[in-house]
Amino acid sequence: MKIIMLGAPGAGKGTQAKKIAEKYGIPHISTGDIFRANIKNGTELGKKAKTFMDKGLLVPDELVVDLVVDRVNQEDCANGYVLDGFPRTIPQAEALDKALADMGQKVDYAIDVDVPDENIVKRMSGRRACVDCGATYHIVYAPTKEENVCDKCQGELILRDDDKPETVQKRLNVYHEQTQPLIDYYTEKKILAKVDGTTDIEVVFDTIVKILGA
Ligand code: AP5
Ligand code: MG
Ligand code: ZN
Repeated sequence: MKIIMLGAPGAGKGTQAKKIAEKYGIPHISTGDIFRANIKNGTELGKKAKTFMDKGLLVPDELVVDLVVDRVNQEDCANGYVLDGFPRTIPQAEALDKALADMGQKVDYAIDVDVPDENIVKRMSGRRACVDCGATYHIVYAPTKEENVCDKCQGELILRDDDKPETVQKRLNVYHEQTQPLIDYYTEKKILAKVDGTTDIEVVFDTIVKILGA
C-alpha cells in the first residue's frame, strides 16, 4: 500500500502518518523529519535545507526528489510506505510517478487532511517535538505524561524553529501556491480522498482506516 499524505503545515499529516505506519507495518517517510535529522547531524544537505526551512520556503526540488526515490527503493518499502510531506510540488509528483512507473508501480491513495488556515496557527504554537526521537505532541490536544519530557524516549521537547507564527503564515502561503495544486493532480488520477482534519486525532484516524479499507 503506497500512501501520500497531503495537507497544510500542521494539518496532522505526521500525526496520522505515524499511526498508519504502525497499524499497517509500513515505513513512515517524512521529508521534513529527514531534513531535520540532517540539520541536527550538521550534514551538507542539512545546511542547505535549513536556509530554506527557516524562512518557511520549500527546499528546491532537486534536493528532495533523488532522496525520496532512493528511499522508496529500499527493501523495507517493498510492501508499501506512507509518504508525509512529499510530493509538495507538481514537478515532485511527476518525478515520483515516473520513478514508480519505471518499477511498474503506482501510488494507491493520496489522503488530503483538510484543516482551515485559522485553526493551523493556533495548533502550531502548541506543538512540541522531541529533540531526540522526533515524536510530536501538543500541549492541549496530545500532551505528554510529564511536562516537556518525551513519553517515548525521555528526550527534551522543543518548539520547532519554523513554528513561530510569522513563519507559519509564510508556510501556509507557500502551501496554497505550490502544494494545493496537487489536490487536483491526484483527483484527476482518481486516488484522492479528503478527510476532515479538524476532528479528534482518533476520529481522523478511523476515517482514514475506512478509506484504506482494512
Ligand atoms: P514538514 O516537516 O513536512 O512540515 P509541514 O508540512 O509544514 O507540516 P508539519 O510537520 O508542520 O505538520 P503536520 O501536518 O505533520 O502536523 P502534525 O501531525 O505535526 O516540512 C518542514 C519544511 O521542510 C518545509 O517547510 C520545507 O521547507 C521542507 N520540506 C519538507 N518536505 C519538502 C518537500 N517535499 N519539498 C520541499 N521542501 C520540503 O500536527 C501539528 C500539531 O497539531 C501537533 O502538535 C499535533 O499534536 C496536533 N494535532 C494533529 N492532529 C490534530 C487533531 N486532529 N486535533 C488537534 N490537534 C492535532
Ligand atoms: Mg509533520
Ligand atoms: Zn523522544
